[in-house]
Amino acid sequence: MSLQDEINIRRTFGIISHPDAGKTTLTEKLLLFGGAIQSAGAVKNNKIKKTATSDFMEIEKQRGISVATSVMAFNYRNKQINILDTPGHKDFAEDTYRTLTAVDSVILVIDCANGVEAQTERLMEVCRMRNTPVIVFINKMDREGRDAFDLLDELEEKLSIKVRPMSWPIGIGATFKGVYNMHRGNLNLFSGNKTQIEKDVVAIEDINDTVLGETIGESFAETLREEVELVDGVYETFDRESYLSGEVAPVYFGSALNNFGVQELLDSFVEISPTPQGRLSDKGFVEPEDNKFSGFVFKIHANIDPKHRDRIAFLRIVSGQFKRNTFYKNIRLDKKVKFANPTSFMASSKAVIDEAYPGDVIGLYDTGTFKIGDTLTTGEEFMYKGIPSFSPEIFKEVQNDDPMKTKQLEKGLQQLTDEGVAQLFIKQPGNRKIIGTVGELQFEVIQYRLKHEYGASCSFMHKPHHKACWMTSDNQDKIDEFVKRKHNNIAYDKDGNPVFLADSPFLLSQAEGDYPEITFHTTSDFKLD
Ligand code: G4P
Repeated sequence: MSLQDEINIRRTFGIISHPDAGKTTLTEKLLLFGGAIQSAGAVKNNKIKKTATSDFMEIEKQRGISVATSVMAFNYRNKQINILDTPGHKDFAEDTYRTLTAVDSVILVIDCANGVEAQTERLMEVCRMRNTPVIVFINKMDREGRDAFDLLDELEEKLSIKVRPMSWPIGIGATFKGVYNMHRGNLNLFSGNKTQIEKDVVAIEDINDTVLGETIGESFAETLREEVELVDGVYETFDRESYLSGEVAPVYFGSALNNFGVQELLDSFVEISPTPQGRLSDKGFVEPEDNKFSGFVFKIHANIDPKHRDRIAFLRIVSGQFKRNTFYKNIRLDKKVKFANPTSFMASSKAVIDEAYPGDVIGLYDTGTFKIGDTLTTGEEFMYKGIPSFSPEIFKEVQNDDPMKTKQLEKGLQQLTDEGVAQLFIKQPGNRKIIGTVGELQFEVIQYRLKHEYGASCSFMHKPHHKACWMTSDNQDKIDEFVKRKHNNIAYDKDGNPVFLADSPFLLSQAEGDYPEITFHTTSDFKLD
């Protein structure tokens, strides 16, 4: 197959949701359709349990297991589909944000009773930053939930995206009869039978056809006709281009648990979702068709076995063909590297691959040289942009509890933060180390791993910071002046950029008022603007 053919058959996406909306269940049903797993429960067992908040060892173990399901590839209707798993646990939100840089589209799962929730909004903000195309799946229609029009209004309002329902629910909860697919003109009837593979589909050529009333009852048929008319009046006709540019999200209704609406979703997904897209580098946009290989590392996973210090770096291929045992250049290190055992992730089994193409995610074993954001090329000097760092929400200063192991502590902190477990900021004087995270859990993970993998001991002292802000200005002197004046609240990030550690929203807006020439960013991704 030509490179173009390889690109055309691939679809790489992520499923995102607020915890409990049904992401794991939907992932599993999609894999069942793709024949990638044989039974329900296979993905669920790898899920980080919600109750495990204090049991970080258990979480690390599960994270270890979940390497296998970090990327799940399967074939469906002649397409090779790669699902990138995004941890639902909020303490691992950073992982999710980074994974979103490696997908070309997302499916957003919404619980019909809860609508848009906190984590939904944050994840969608990240998608909006790069105009990632979004398909919405409103789940749990077998349960009592909110009015469909209300849900759509809320999606538009809170997620700043236009929506276009593609199917329309008939009843909800106890009265849920199924969905009418406006796009295809058919009725998909709900039986509540979890094993149903959606064969109960009735073709409805015209919504005024009497067959509608005969199938779902006159009163439901009447409501459906009215609502569909309203939908067609309010929402613009679906236009694939507007979906691909991230402006409009097509919406489907269903019940993942009951395997209802899932095939319909998957069929539309393969029909409309984007093929692997290029990415922006510091030397311009790179198209997937460019026949020189390139890719970037968006995730690093440590082997949890302390006897083997090796790690797996997840590389998203952007352009060209990747080949095993071929020298590629790690641009940051200015060093040629080759890989004897690159792996692909076909569902739960890992296999060594000889080649891979744009859209694919491969696992590269490494002993600690990769950093998140690293770019590999055949020799061209450019770096991919846009693996953002988001401002942490919890800040703690590291205290070295075993001065004999200072070197180990330094190395461990460096490697763990390179892996993206947390962010490291250095404060002067004295090279003090501030760790920033989005969840408490990471501190336990860091402490545990420093002890077991590096033999170093540390404790943490809470710092009262509210946000870390990166700064830009047309006038560098103003930044220098600000850094000098606020030196007590200035630290330096991994790239040596000064960061303002604002102690409260009030102090941040005060700084913004005092220094109108400076823009304060809560993500390091501002270079994309
Ligand atoms: P998540 O990955 O987004 O966190 O959600 P997950 O799939 O784990 O689903 C959360 C809960 O919602 C699960 O129940 C799951 O069975 C249920 N669920 C998912 N889809 C549907 C649906 O379409 N209808 C209904 N009624 N429930 C649904 P749980 O009790 O938390 O877990 P479990 O005991 O079933 O494993």
